[in-house]
Amino acid sequence: MRGMENAPSVVLADRAAYLDAVEEVRAAAAAYYGDGTSALDDDTFDRLMRGIAAYEAARPEDAVEQSPTALVAAGAVEGGDVVHSVPMLSLDNVFGQEDLERWGTGLARRLGGEPRGFHVGPKIDGLAVAAYYTGGKLVRLVTRGNGTTGEDVSHAIGTVDGLPEVLAAPVSVEVRGEIVLTNDQFEEANRIRAEYGEPVFSNPRNAAAGSLRATGRAYTIPLSCYAYTLLPAADGDDTADERGFAERTHSALMDTLGALGVRTVADTPVGARTVATLGEALAYIETVAARRDALPLGIDGVVIKADHPDDQRTAGTGSRAPRWAVAYKFPAVEKTTRIVDVTWATGRTGFLAPRAQLEPVEIAGVTVAFATLHSPGMIGKLDLRIGDTVTVRRAGDVIPYVVGPVVAARTGAETPIALPEKCPGCGGEIDSSQERWRCVQGRACDLSRSVEYAVGRDQLDIEGLGPKIVVRLVADGAVADIADLFTLTREQLVAATGSEKNSDKILANILAAKERPLSRVFCALGVRGTGRSMSRRIARHFGTMAAIVDADAAALQEVDGIGPEKAAMLLAELAELAPVIAKLKAAGVDKDEPRVAAVGQSADAVDGEPGEELPLAGMTVVATGSMTGPLAALSRTAVNELIERAGGRAGSSVSKSTTLLVAGANAGSKKAKAESLGVRVVTPEEFGETVAAYLP
Ligand code: IVH
Repeated sequence: MRGMENAPSVVLADRAAYLDAVEEVRAAAAAYYGDGTSALDDDTFDRLMRGIAAYEAARPEDAVEQSPTALVAAGAVEGGDVVHSVPMLSLDNVFGQEDLERWGTGLARRLGGEPRGFHVGPKIDGLAVAAYYTGGKLVRLVTRGNGTTGEDVSHAIGTVDGLPEVLAAPVSVEVRGEIVLTNDQFEEANRIRAEYGEPVFSNPRNAAAGSLRATGRAYTIPLSCYAYTLLPAADGDDTADERGFAERTHSALMDTLGALGVRTVADTPVGARTVATLGEALAYIETVAARRDALPLGIDGVVIKADHPDDQRTAGTGSRAPRWAVAYKFPAVEKTTRIVDVTWATGRTGFLAPRAQLEPVEIAGVTVAFATLHSPGMIGKLDLRIGDTVTVRRAGDVIPYVVGPVVAARTGAETPIALPEKCPGCGGEIDSSQERWRCVQGRACDLSRSVEYAVGRDQLDIEGLGPKIVVRLVADGAVADIADLFTLTREQLVAATGSEKNSDKILANILAAKERPLSRVFCALGVRGTGRSMSRRIARHFGTMAAIVDADAAALQEVDGIGPEKAAMLLAELAELAPVIAKLKAAGVDKDEPRVAAVGQSADAVDGEPGEELPLAGMTVVATGSMTGPLAALSRTAVNELIERAGGRAGSSVSKSTTLLVAGANAGSKKAKAESLGVRVVTPEEFGETVAAYLP
């Protein structure tokens, strides 16, 4: 829930700015707690709140009575009429490793020694509820409200996945957890809203807040709950199972919740762990951060809790938050801004891509001025308009995208988004029968671009085939797909290059390209939704092109990072590309991928035989600087491939969980960071010796 958190504040220069901020926060809070449609993203809200508090601290005489800080202090924000059994507290935030270590030092000081372990689990980005069970039956559901009192939302019982109406045992307990919409539920919710002619929700959290409190709707929006606390019932009904809650570790309480049939934070794909040290907690945090974007629900950090009840008691609880737990917050990945314009382009695979030009906004350290709008269907579903305030999400490597409009912020001046009538690439017809529109020429709409991509250094790596020559080959009709590259004649090349000598060189390079491993050939196909690293994962998993082609949706989903949606898309892509794949095979381009075991396994273990341990098994290796010695000729992609072939995991940034840094010339900040963290640093020469057997 919202509160005054540790995000850096907005500086309010004068009283006018202060009054504007007060107005903005009040309006946003009213909308947020009303129907969940606030015009401000969380980060902006928190910064403004802190700016207001800072201004009032410096100039108390200027503070106005209706300031939101006064409401928070008085506990008067969004309370309800149900008094919580024990206050529903907030959590202090930390924003990085140093911050967390400082928190750990403070905790150890209070305890007079290190805590007896930590429980770590994802921080679910939703809103808190207390669920009261009597004799195993769910009898009451209450929002967090202001932490002291909340609102009775028992009408929502039966609509919340993960919060069973009847527990596995007839106990009287209070379960606390976070209500969210999973990504699928969010999509479904907005589909339902559109069907009923109601404004779409701008993000899953607003949707959860709005839906939990709504009554009398003609439709039901399914919600999810992930529990994180178990308390004995306040009425003291003393059945055996509830006794001794205060003596159990947090991990044990989570297990009890699970055994009662309640879904907990441990049931998210990243799970929860009991760890001995903050170092281990940090390693977990890194894995969660790395998987954040691929998760089926929104998380905004990791919660670290002293696991042992004695440690919790000794550390104690402040007025706002416990001292034995802390939230490690990930950077905000969603902000609100305005759509200034929408432009259209045709992508490499022939699909039309609408792009929103935005009022620039900083998201997680990067200024975002454009975001994808996915498809015309999506524009219609979200009822987006030019001039709309929108939620924009930028997560990891994912291209920033518009999540939805903030309907509450509309002024009436917004204008419809015009849809194209002709392909923006070739001016030809558009196939608009599916949600994603496509040029009727498909991949052929911009064949040159597809071929240029295919011959690139990280794919087929055919030197000499520059963009000009590719355009000419395509224009001459010599290349109609990437497989045609392998049957090019000397005459065709001479016609395109004007040089016999160059043509011979290119022919030799094409011959060499026939030997490229599967991962590169697969990448060269330009399958929608797969870049270099996904292509490597797919190739390593299946080993041969034939196995990829034969894979069904279930088999594809065994590859890390492929969910049901991506699997379906890959199947469609593979079906479309089947003739090209067959042509490649006929042209002799059909090398396998050396199969590599999952990290930590030995090479032969893949085939069920005990084998030799791979030299980098279980290691996370980062390469930086210019490579020398045996690695001199390798691109960064090739070095990463080498690391993975030798059983390691290739990382891109240095952290505590990095095992080894390969530092070439001019290594810079990564080397300094590795040294400060005590991560082992080796030269490319030393590294080359370790992995000599795996060099290309
Ligand atoms: S423990 C004493 N664990 O985050 C507070 N909270 O910003 C106990 N939240 O109010 C909270 N995921 O609503 C805990 N794994 C998790 C959580 C979690 C989300 C929420 C919760 C809390 C808020 C604090």
